[in-house]
Amino acid sequence: MKKLLSATIAVIVALSCVFAMAACVDDTIEPPEGYSVDGRKLNEIYDIDDYERGEYLVPYEVISESVMGKSMVEKYCVSTVKVTKSEDGFKLAIFVVDPSVMDNVRLVEGEVEISGTAVNEFGYDGYEFEVSRGALDGEIAVRLFVSMVMKRDTNFGIKLDLSQAKLVA
Ligand code: HEM
Repeated sequence: MKKLLSATIAVIVALSCVFAMAACVDDTIEPPEGYSVDGRKLNEIYDIDDYERGEYLVPYEVISESVMGKSMVEKYCVSTVKVTKSEDGFKLAIFVVDPSVMDNVRLVEGEVEISGTAVNEFGYDGYEFEVSRGALDGEIAVRLFVSMVMKRDTNFGIKLDLSQAKLVA
């Protein structure tokens, strides 16, 4: 009886994984056309260090030892983050594709959890964090609560590709 129960649970989890991984989600953000307030062409790649201000969409690589985890993050988090540079410093916004499966996105520095501010942009809910310029060059540790199936906090890293930073404002 116990064996049957374990087998049934294993099948349900496996099926959930297959369905969750197979479903197709459009998570691309099309940067706007036009010019920024400092006269630069939007939707073009710039070096964020060459300008005093700017908002950029930046692709990133997901870092996780779990193949399943990596694919889940790729599926449920928008594939670009937004980096904002202003006189106040740097901000990083992470957007989620489906807020019903996860919430409470945090950054982790050492043992310290950093909470973000809720934002909504490009049609997605997101979390925005104040970060240092140095943090943008390394692996950024992310923690979030998965409210579907897993029902627990999970951790993974993201590594930004700043060489592909596209100006959006
Ligand atoms: C949709 C339903 C989901 C299912 C069925 C599911 C299932 C699983 C399973 C079975 C594992 C363990 C795999 C292993 O040991 O390699 C796992 C790990 C993981 N999942 Fe999920 N997951 C779901 C949603 C999500 C979401 C929404 C995220 C984040 C956006 C996520 C991120 C991760 C990560 C990073 C790991 C590896 C680290 C850890 O075990 O905490 N998952 N998931």
